[in-house]
Amino acid sequence: MDVSAVARNLSTLGSAKWDLHIRARALARAGHPIIELTIGEPDEPMAPVLVPTMSRALDAGRVGYSNGRGEAALLEALADRYTARRGRTFSTQNFLAFPGTQTALYALMRGLVNPGDEVVVFDPCYATYEGLVVSAGARLVTAPLRPDAGFSIDFEALNAVITPQTRAILLNNPHNPAGSLLDEDACQRLGELALRRGLWLICDEVYEDLIYDNRPLVSPLNNPALDSHVVSCASISKSHAAPGLRSGWVVGSEDVIDRLVPFAETMLFGNQPFIADATAAALRDAGETAARMRVSLRRRAQMVTAALDRVSGLRVAEPRAGMFALVGVGETALGLDGRGFATRLLEHAGVAVMPGTSFGRVTRDWLRLSLTVPDEVLQTACNRIADFCA
Ligand SMILES: Cc1ncc(COP(=O)(O)O)c(C=O)c1O
Repeated sequence: MDVSAVARNLSTLGSAKWDLHIRARALARAGHPIIELTIGEPDEPMAPVLVPTMSRALDAGRVGYSNGRGEAALLEALADRYTARRGRTFSTQNFLAFPGTQTALYALMRGLVNPGDEVVVFDPCYATYEGLVVSAGARLVTAPLRPDAGFSIDFEALNAVITPQTRAILLNNPHNPAGSLLDEDACQRLGELALRRGLWLICDEVYEDLIYDNRPLVSPLNNPALDSHVVSCASISKSHAAPGLRSGWVVGSEDVIDRLVPFAETMLFGNQPFIADATAAALRDAGETAARMRVSLRRRAQMVTAALDRVSGLRVAEPRAGMFALVGVGETALGLDGRGFATRLLEHAGVAVMPGTSFGRVTRDWLRLSLTVPDEVLQTACNRIADFCA
């Protein structure tokens, strides 16, 4: 018996993106001194509030079935947090709990998009987006971001790919891998486009707490006039350095959330009450884990710029948020594209980075460096990259 067409399509997507990372891990296991700047996991310990709250919840037997929407305390904490941050009022009815942003995005794709629809994804994009669109049986359409303008949206190119079949735009803001932020003008134009063409804006805002200067996030969700066109999702994976707890949510209009509840019930039959309790407490803490990460990530981003931007042929797109920095390598004397550069860099200098091709075509001549290693390790990696270019 064969698996489904979706499973077959997914099986050819993932592996090639991660091959250098997998190779680096194998070399490290074999004893080679590899510096790994491939994937980004928070290097802060998880937020201190989480373990004691979970432990108390477990002692209290909080392991029964939950409900389809989410535990009351979690929904209340979310409503308070978004009301405080987004310049408008949210109620518990605007939220739906999911185990992480990734499942939330999966549910949104399946819940809002029909097979055969087109979904616009920006290029470059987070590595799982292609799979999300494919898993909904939809067609992935890409719109390039502009590397020469801070990886901002190219509206001419975006408008050119919208067709009557377009159902949704998948928007990652703050952006991985570029570390860029949506500005007011772009946000307004996206909103107008969604209204005019009847589109969903599906916003992945998982890096909201890692904007280095801590400015409020500019988001289509902040505009109530867009309510029937916007859904957003996030989690405590980055903000509280707890990706393994798998605790996230969707936020949207009461109507769309109501209509997605049966979908979440079908997928999950509820989330885990003890994790919901810890997440509610985390959402009400002082945010010190994210504050520390904002400082260290910004410092490391500046370190990468200082070390590599002066190397002939390299250019750094210094991020404003998130855990990664993009480095352009297309102009070096080595004559290598991003993938060739990353492969040779691993083999000759023992530094593992993600080739830009893992995120799209626009970043063919770029590398993505993770900023989640200690400063001295990152500095050594940058020195090795500079030496490699020389
Ligand atoms: C852009 C983006 N979205 C979603 C995720 C997954 O987040 P979560 O752990 O909340 O599922 C990541 C993780 O790296 C990410 O970079």
